[in-house]
Amino acid sequence: QASTMQAYRASLLHFHADPAFTEKPDDAYAYHEDGLLLIVDGKVHAAGDYATLAPTLPQDVTITDYRGKLLTPGFIDTHIHYPQTDMIASPAPGLLPWLETYTFPTERAFAEPEHAREVADFFLDELLRCGTTTALVYCTVHQDSVDAFFEKAEQRNLRMAAGKVLMDRHCPDFLRDCENNGIRASEDLIAKWHKRGRAMYAITPRFAPTSTEAQLRATGELAQAYPDTFIQTHVSENQDECKWVKSLFPEARSYLDVYDRYGLMRPRAVFGHCIWLDDEDFARMAATGSAAAVCPTSNLFLGSGLFDFEKADGHKVPLSLATDVGAGTSFSMLQTMNEAYKVARLKGSYLPAIRMFYLATLGAARSLQLEGTIGSFAVGAEADFIVLDPQCTPLMARRTGRRESLEELLFALALLGDDRAIAASYAAGQLVHERRPN
Ligand code: GUN
Ligand code: ZN
Repeated sequence: QASTMQAYRASLLHFHADPAFTEKPDDAYAYHEDGLLLIVDGKVHAAGDYATLAPTLPQDVTITDYRGKLLTPGFIDTHIHYPQTDMIASPAPGLLPWLETYTFPTERAFAEPEHAREVADFFLDELLRCGTTTALVYCTVHQDSVDAFFEKAEQRNLRMAAGKVLMDRHCPDFLRDCENNGIRASEDLIAKWHKRGRAMYAITPRFAPTSTEAQLRATGELAQAYPDTFIQTHVSENQDECKWVKSLFPEARSYLDVYDRYGLMRPRAVFGHCIWLDDEDFARMAATGSAAAVCPTSNLFLGSGLFDFEKADGHKVPLSLATDVGAGTSFSMLQTMNEAYKVARLKGSYLPAIRMFYLATLGAARSLQLEGTIGSFAVGAEADFIVLDPQCTPLMARRTGRRESLEELLFALALLGDDRAIAASYAAGQLVHERRPN
C-alpha cells in the first residue's frame, strides 16, 4: 500500500526550546505565518513555509486550506481525573471536604464497567473538543476502570497515559485496596496496556495520606521494576492536607520527601499541584527529573493556593499545565492558561502567552520524556495537532483583528478562548474532532 501524504496550509507554531530559558523568547519557537504541515503515515514529514514546501509536493496531493487559522501541536494535559467528569463544578470548602462529599461517592460508581465506558467516551470527546490530544489520567481503584479508559482511547488512536488509583487507608471501604491486590492489579495492567499501541501506563498512588507505608513501599518497588512507566500523584496542594501528612509521616523532612523516601521520584514521575514546596523540595524535583503539573483552575476553585512559577523556574523544574478536572473547572487548556496567567500575576511574576503555549505542548512532552514523539512538529513526531480559530467568536475576531504581534494573538486565544477556539483536532494524522458551525 502506497503511503499517502496529507498537507495543511495555515499559520504554524511549535517549539524547540523553553522561551523562559533562551536568550530571547523568539529563539524558542518556529512560526510560519503562511505555513504548510506535511504528514505521512500519521507522522510529521515537514513543517515550514508554504512558499518553500509547496513546490516540493507530489502532483496528486490535495492541500487542506486552513488559512486564517493557527496550527499547533495538540495540547497535553498532565493531570486529570476522568471519573470526576460528572462532578465538575461541585462546591466544597476546600480539598478534604470536597473529597469526602463528592469525589469518593462519585468514584464508587466505577465499579460498574459499563458506567466507566460511558464516562470515558464522553471524557475523551470533551478533551478532543478542547484540543487536548494527550493526557495523564487518573482512573479509580477499580481495575476495570482502567480497561474501560484504554479501550476507548485505543478506538480513537490517542496517545494517553493512565493508571489505577492505589489507596488502602483513610478512604471508604468501597474504594480500598486490600493486601497486595492494588499492586498486583497495577502489574497486570502494565502487562496488558503499557506501550500497547499509543497507550502508556501510569502508576497512581492517590496521595500519601491514602496509602499505608507498606503500599507506598510496594509502589516504589513497582516503579523501579518498570522504569519507563509513569508515576502520578498529588503533593502539597492544600495546607490542611500538608498538616495531615506531617502528622502521618513525622520522620519525613517534607511532604515531598515522603515520596522520595519510597523511591517515587524519578524521570516520568509527575506531581500534581506543588504549591507549598520549599526550595529544597524544588531542588529535589529538578535533581530527580520529576515534573510538576500546575493546576490553576483547580487551585483557585478549591482555594488551595498559588503556584510559584518564579521559584520553580529558579530550580529549572520541568513544568507543565494541567486541568485537574473535576477540581479543575474547565477541560480547556486555553482556560487553564488564562488562570495560570492570573496566578502568576498574584505571585508577582509574569507568564507570557508564548511560554504558556510552550508549557501546554513541548514543555509537557518534555515533562513526560516524550519529546520527539508528541508536543512539536519535529520531523518524525506523531501528527497530533489542532486548528485554532482566531475568529471563533465576535469578540475574539475583533480583538485578534487588531493584534500587533504573535504574543498578542496567543494572549487573546489564551484569555478569551475555550472549546469554541478549537476548529479541529487531529490524532496521528486523523481528524478526531471538527467544530460544528455555530
Ligand atoms: N488529592 C487526593 N485526591 C485528589 C483528587 O482527586 N483531586 C485533587 N485535586 N486533589 C486530590
Ligand atoms: Zn488531581
